[in-house]
Amino acid sequence: MKKNYVFISLLAIFGFSNAQNTSHIPQLGKDKIEDVIAAMTQEEKVYLLMGLGENNWQNPPTGPKTVIIAGEAGLTWAIPRLGITSTVFTDGPAGIRIESHPEGLNFTRYCTAFPTATALASTWNTDLVENVGKAMGNEVLEYGSDVLLAPAINTHRNPLCGRNFEYYSEDPLIAGKMGAAMVRGVQSNGVGTSLKHFVANNIETNRTTINAVISQRALREIYLRGFELVVKESQPWTVMSSYNRLNGFYTSENYDLITTILRDEWKFDGMVMSDWWGGADAVAQMNAGNDMLMPGCAQREELLKALKNKIIDEKVIDRNLARILAFIIKTPRFKNYAYSNKPNLTAHQQVSKNAATEGMVLLKNDKNTLPFKNIKNIALFGKTSYRYIAGGTGSGEVNYQYATTINESFEKNGFKVAKPLEGIYKQFIDTVSKKATNENRKFIVDFHAELPLNTEQIISQVKNTDIAILTIGRNAGEGSDRTVADFSLTGTEKQLIREVSTAYHAANKKVIVVLNIGGVISTSDWRDYPDAILLAWQTGQEGANALVDILTGKVNPSGKLPMSFPMSYNDVPSAKTFPGEPADNPVNAVYTEGIYVGYRYYDTFKIPTAYEFGYGLSYTQFQYSNIQLSSNEFSNEMTVKLTVKNIGEKAGKETAELYLHAPNIQLEKPIQELKGFAKTKLLKPGESQEITLKLDARALASFQTNISSWIAEKGTYEVLIGSSSKDIRLHSSFTLPQTIVVEKVHLVLYPNRPITDLTISKK
Ligand code: BGC
Repeated sequence: MKKNYVFISLLAIFGFSNAQNTSHIPQLGKDKIEDVIAAMTQEEKVYLLMGLGENNWQNPPTGPKTVIIAGEAGLTWAIPRLGITSTVFTDGPAGIRIESHPEGLNFTRYCTAFPTATALASTWNTDLVENVGKAMGNEVLEYGSDVLLAPAINTHRNPLCGRNFEYYSEDPLIAGKMGAAMVRGVQSNGVGTSLKHFVANNIETNRTTINAVISQRALREIYLRGFELVVKESQPWTVMSSYNRLNGFYTSENYDLITTILRDEWKFDGMVMSDWWGGADAVAQMNAGNDMLMPGCAQREELLKALKNKIIDEKVIDRNLARILAFIIKTPRFKNYAYSNKPNLTAHQQVSKNAATEGMVLLKNDKNTLPFKNIKNIALFGKTSYRYIAGGTGSGEVNYQYATTINESFEKNGFKVAKPLEGIYKQFIDTVSKKATNENRKFIVDFHAELPLNTEQIISQVKNTDIAILTIGRNAGEGSDRTVADFSLTGTEKQLIREVSTAYHAANKKVIVVLNIGGVISTSDWRDYPDAILLAWQTGQEGANALVDILTGKVNPSGKLPMSFPMSYNDVPSAKTFPGEPADNPVNAVYTEGIYVGYRYYDTFKIPTAYEFGYGLSYTQFQYSNIQLSSNEFSNEMTVKLTVKNIGEKAGKETAELYLHAPNIQLEKPIQELKGFAKTKLLKPGESQEITLKLDARALASFQTNISSWIAEKGTYEVLIGSSSKDIRLHSSFTLPQTIVVEKVHLVLYPNRPITDLTISKK
């Protein structure tokens, strides 16, 4: 239910006592920030340290109105007498999340659903991601928001994490580069981002209490590394601390994390906010440098008391306030920007579609099944063929105007979709939808079990169609993790794949499986049946149109996996420890696999995968040649050059991946690690492009815990250039004559209980 919020000027409440004795009341933007802070009452100080929720979440009865844009995630407090305006925060990673039809608005306010972060990372194209960021930022600005609560760059540590679709990769270089590109794009509009969730929010089970126990080495090399890259490369306006505990302490209460590492080591100069109601001790959060508590409610009284009783030093409060005010000054709302409510949705539709096409990954294409040849009539199996899953649930959701479905897109493109089959599925979707409540209406079909078809229903499609396309869908979102059952295909799904394949193959016709999913699923137990598999991911409102362009060959697929697809869930290095212990209600999550996350584990421990990290097929072939290093010996930087040539018959793009195999002297290392990547332009058949990749000293270094330093060990480094992590096309090497300490950092964040990381020597 909506409320009519009555704005009560704070001037009336707090203004008079200060105003009486002074002829000049400092104004934010005109006077020095420290003078503005000095003019605040203690109540005003505490109120500004708290955000406001979208609804009236325990806001003081006299507070300012709490809805500026319906659907916003939160606001900052306004103090009009000091010229301090409210600012607005909106989610999230796949596009801005606000209400499209709020009460009292006489126009609609749709936002573009862009591909989810996982799909964006699959493009391996940072320019494209920056462009998506530009478009998202334009919607943030023109709908009157000030900060997009994105990007989210937590690690795909385990495929069951319910929020993996919001995150980029199992590899910190990809997560960092994609996150940095997104921040640059969004912030180019003069609005802010919030890099989240800092740090180690890789589990949704008991997410507000769970304690992630992680070795300092794994933290530095895997979990912190992506954040470090984004902060150093693109300075997000804000960072959001995470819900979880890390090595015993809530991240939002951890000075070593938020001040020593984030601000002192990485030079972050923006504002840190908590995740919504995250943490437990407001005083500890303030001391840690978690400047703002979102959305702030119960802590208001607690903090005021602490300030009045001198439990917290007022200087700490003033320091945090200064950072909040420095943030507010930058915002469009403070600058009185006259937003139009008319972002360029038509242009963004195209941006979204381009990103979707480039993010899809062709996993299998036997005998060049794809692109289509002489196909007119299509049998579309699977409920998801009639209900495209544009994105995930929770704060990563977008209120888009439409999400074209696969059947609609085929018809729009002149194909005939088998009507009797369509009828069966549409009726099923209608029946399921009728059971929906207001809360689950949008997603009830996604989470509902697949419709079983009998053999006759399948066989009867074969005669009148040229090909079968079968879509498997999955959805997930914050607050809970997926299950092993959700990772696996259900009996109905597997039977459908088996029977459709048998029926169509008997008639010499092909079968394509489309995966409209947000996170990794099992593929090894069914992938032999279909002729082709296209991993479409959850690719926004234009995903189905992008998919048809790929299947028909209008666009050549160029996506590659930013994570590994294991042969079975039990092969995942954290399978036994996820989500945590005790299993029925986890308190601790012990990251015993250490640095061996994803391909770092599978490759080093020689565990076969279904589809390896960096994998993805194209309709053309690429030849790699002419690798040249700038020197045989490393000093400060190394340049690696190579040539990629399209030797096939179709235009296409290729990503060259640079892996480094470093010497193992004192420090054990993964057999190879991704240290660079670059995507070519669209290469015509016969066309070549020279690629240049750079390695700095940090790219050679691993983290040595006992001396808390990044160390590059002397010896030979092998440079491996691949089309995937397994398909290595070029080799070269250089030496580092002397071991070097690349960087010494603070000895902080030690685990609160003993932890022994997995090592190859113990295997
Ligand atoms: C999520 C954040 C989100 C915030 C505001 C939290 O529950 O973890 O990612 O930005 O809500 O909606």
